Amino acid sequence: MSETARRIEQLKEKKDIVLLAHTYQAAEIQDIADYVGDSYGLSVKATETDASTIVFCGVRFMAETAAILNPHKRVILPEPGAGCPMADMITSEELRELKTDHPDYLVMCYVNSTAEVKALSDICCTSSNALTIVQRIPADKGIIFVPDRYLGSWIRERTGREMILWNGFCPTHYRIAPSLIEQARREYPNATALIHPEARKESRDLCDHVLSTGEMCTFVVESDAAEFIIATESGIIHTLRKKAPHKRFYPIAPDLVICPNMKKGTLESVLAAMEGTGGEVVTVPSDVADKARHALEAMLTMSAPR
Ligand code: 13P
Ligand code: SF4
Repeated sequence: MSETARRIEQLKEKKDIVLLAHTYQAAEIQDIADYVGDSYGLSVKATETDASTIVFCGVRFMAETAAILNPHKRVILPEPGAGCPMADMITSEELRELKTDHPDYLVMCYVNSTAEVKALSDICCTSSNALTIVQRIPADKGIIFVPDRYLGSWIRERTGREMILWNGFCPTHYRIAPSLIEQARREYPNATALIHPEARKESRDLCDHVLSTGEMCTFVVESDAAEFIIATESGIIHTLRKKAPHKRFYPIAPDLVICPNMKKGTLESVLAAMEGTGGEVVTVPSDVADKARHALEAMLTMSAPR
């Protein structure tokens, strides 16, 4: 263990800090985190922790979500510049207009959104619970889905529901072109291909399973298959190798399918956040947070096992 990692371990104990990390974070950060997971698992963990401070290794909307769900805890984002371009593809003014045009529709927002957009939504979702939630919404209710047109279209294809989709997308997953999947399938004909629902339909259609990052982690452990083509951000390969060390994982274009925001963090920036010399304490104004919490809690209730 490096000196920086050792110091981080000491400070976790001394300052009552829990370190949460997304599966797209750098390997060295995943290795010192108390919990590594997808955005759903991380929001649940954020509600369960007893620690007084959460250091969130991920992007801003994830830290904001933790802050909204834990108004009495300190949530620190080690890299204040780590945003999510998709989350910024719809503004609260644009969503307000959309709601005015479709007053009878239920508004569902992907967790990859700003706190202001969550505050204007009826319910939130992540990529691992979006399908379950839509299936539990009364069938005659139209749904406005923001901001990811690809996750939205995947749910619409699966459910046949009336859905208005916003035109946002993830630039990282957009780079997973169909030709890259075809090439990987030629190279690894025996591998099972898994793809994230943020990817384009043409690419998804060439894969065997469409799964969130959390679902991929469970799937590779439970599946009989020994080889997998992984079509999502390449940070997850480290997580998958730890979960299933005897299996083989082939990332799609690992140098191309990288989220630059997820990769901003370093052990040094995590340490600085813990020492109080770096990072940002993420806060959400209470009027916005109260409304956004309502949408997040609706997500937790609607996606709970029945
Ligand atoms: P997950 O919900 O699978 O964690 O995805 C979050 C994300 O930002 C994917 O780009
Ligand atoms: Fe946002 Fe895409 Fe990065 Fe996820 S991978 S944080 S959706 S830009």
